[in-house]
Amino acid sequence: MTLGLDLDLVSQCYQAELQRFAERHPRSGAFYQDNLKHWLYGAPLHWMQQWPGRYPITVAEAQGATLVDCDGHEYVDFALGDTGAMFGHAQPAVSAAIAQQVQRGSTLMLPTADSLWVGQELSRRFGLPYWQVTTSATDANRFVLRLCRMITGRQKVLVFNCNYHGSVDESQVEFDAQGQMIARDGVHANGLQHQATTRLVEFNDLPALEAALAHGDVAAVLTEPFMTNVGMVPPAAGFHEGLRALTRRYDVPLIIDETHTLSCGPGGYCGEHGLQPDFFVLGKSIAGGIPCAVWGSSQAMAERIWQVLPHFQPGQAINHFGFGGTLAGNALQMAAMRATFSQVMNDENYGRMFALAERLRAGVAAIIERHRLPWHVTRIGARVEYLFMQQAPRNGGEAHHARHGLIEAYLHLYLLNRGVLLTPFHNMALLCPSASEAQVDLHNQLLEQCIAQVRQGAPA
Ligand SMILES: Cc1ncc(COP(=O)(O)O)c(C=O)c1O
Repeated sequence: MTLGLDLDLVSQCYQAELQRFAERHPRSGAFYQDNLKHWLYGAPLHWMQQWPGRYPITVAEAQGATLVDCDGHEYVDFALGDTGAMFGHAQPAVSAAIAQQVQRGSTLMLPTADSLWVGQELSRRFGLPYWQVTTSATDANRFVLRLCRMITGRQKVLVFNCNYHGSVDESQVEFDAQGQMIARDGVHANGLQHQATTRLVEFNDLPALEAALAHGDVAAVLTEPFMTNVGMVPPAAGFHEGLRALTRRYDVPLIIDETHTLSCGPGGYCGEHGLQPDFFVLGKSIAGGIPCAVWGSSQAMAERIWQVLPHFQPGQAINHFGFGGTLAGNALQMAAMRATFSQVMNDENYGRMFALAERLRAGVAAIIERHRLPWHVTRIGARVEYLFMQQAPRNGGEAHHARHGLIEAYLHLYLLNRGVLLTPFHNMALLCPSASEAQVDLHNQLLEQCIAQVRQGAPA
């Protein structure tokens, strides 16, 4: 018995799905062959290659939860750009705001009236007083880490095993089988001595966290409030209280990265659960797909930053703050964020997303039960994930070991070949407000069919 499925059958069925994919996607295949001549990995971003067929589908257009490829196939998109399009593709209110602003100047290195509105809204919604804008969540994390080093005078960043916070060098580590920290599988250490930059701890392990902080060399703890990038790992009861108490005791700034957990509600997981980070990072979905992220700081941290980097005074030589970028905070981002916050990220839309996500979760739970699979399904707000272990994992290491490349590839490709897209890197479905119950039911029906075909004891 391996994860409830007959792996020989899975392997055979996967081969059949690859064949079906090639037959159904000839134009995408031709695009890919030509793209290989120009793009380092056959696409403008290497991740675009990591879908379960032998090449990515080429997209013709996407609206709401529906995506159409160049071979004319329509898909229900539950990947939504791995969260960047969490509120649906081409969201009408945000698209209109972007179209209007782009004709009035998109990048000015000056604030617009929207900047004030967005600043006020960020403070109101997420509770921290001071904010900055970046072009990606990776950048936001990098810049906050840099500032934490500056204000604490310490070097190391503490992250949790199997985290993902973007391509932040210090965070690209994992535990090996002996519990030693090594560069993450597939990521070159790139000359970085991780022993000098990073402390690594398993999520939910407060004693290990305390032991790491007690060294006195940690500049910041960077975490998601609920791990979402290795399957989903919920915080154990008391974990967040312990994390906050320990970071305060050792005077270590706590950065909470809500880039994915914004799926929990209009104020993110922190808003729903009353968490009080020192820094808050948010990216991807807040500007309708325009590259954009924000980070916020508490009053106390802002005061420490101003001690090192005071406000610019006229007549002073140009000051290099060491963070930011000329495109950050641009007028287009501001218009897009204003439209997203004022017209999209509201209780009504979240209510709809949650109801759809619950329908999907309940359907998957019923399939798991019907086939007695040793799997489980987790939902946080609009995000649903199924993982090949019976209980929710306690930490990233456990979640990582429950992954299974072949089964994932088969499930994803079976669904893709029949018009449903899951997030390629794991079994994650995100529900946008314009998805329909029929689309959710299609996912659940297809998952039932593809599992029935390969479960242990299935007729050959
Ligand atoms: C929690 C978290 N933080 C940061 C990032 C990086 O975001 P970006 O790709 O916009 O740099 C991701 C990306 O998946 C993420 O999941």
